[in-house]
Amino acid sequence: RFLYLSHFTNKEMENRENDDDKKVVAEITARCFIPTLITTTSWEGFHFVGHDILITEAMDCYGAVVWPSALVLCYFLETNVKQYNMVDKNVIEIGAGTGLVSIVASLLGAHVTATDLPELLGNLQYNISRNTKMKCKHLPQVKELSWGIALDKNFPRSSNNFDYILAADVVYAHPFLEELLLTFDHLCKETTIILWVMKFRLERENKFVDRFKELFDLEEISNFPSLNIKLYKAMKKNRRSA
Ligand SMILES: C[S@@+](CC[C@H](N)C(=O)[O-])C[C@H]1O[C@@H](n2cnc3c(N)ncnc32)[C@H](O)[C@@H]1O
Repeated sequence: RFLYLSHFTNKEMENRENDDDKKVVAEITARCFIPTLITTTSWEGFHFVGHDILITEAMDCYGAVVWPSALVLCYFLETNVKQYNMVDKNVIEIGAGTGLVSIVASLLGAHVTATDLPELLGNLQYNISRNTKMKCKHLPQVKELSWGIALDKNFPRSSNNFDYILAADVVYAHPFLEELLLTFDHLCKETTIILWVMKFRLERENKFVDRFKELFDLEEISNFPSLNIKLYKAMKKNRRSA
């Protein structure tokens, strides 16, 4: 869907992009199913990597629901296993929220560390345990990572060895954008690949992309105009080897 042949006019390319967008977004949203039972806890179901994944949500904070960006990243990981093979890879997710992306990466064979703010970790651990126990090659870890805080202590650079950093919808109107950038930089070594899904909302936070480009080589892999979402691949700038 990302190859544009030179004999297409701009209008034709735009029409093809819109058709692709609608088709892929419909495929992505079809992975979510709503429970038929009425229960006291609120949860949603998702279908990825041949598994039904049940996610418990809470309505009281940002990280406690599954955001569309997470679905986009899960779908990307599932449908690009050849190019982005997760088997035995060392993966960290920042701002993991309810844990769907970390669960999918674990089901795909990665060694995953799912991280978020301390208040999110109980629900995150619950969802991760419930959906990965006896189903994954490597048991995922859940760990606190508040952006920019105690990074040297909790994630010393010398022991960071991540093949992938995953991030879905971590840029929005919060006051920690510089700390977020610092965190990406801290966790990323020369060979680390960042897969980051960005939901475009307000101008101020959208500028984060330009700040990000100062430290990382950024490649747009996928664009979903109907969702205002882009999927980026990034690697550290000026690296000696890739
Ligand atoms: C919009 S939610 C996205 C959650 C999940 N990635 C998804 O797409 O469904 C943003 C996530 O970033 C986390 N977050 C916000 N500020 C943070 C901070 N300062 N340090 C660490 N995580 C933070 C929130 O707790 C939340 O889980």
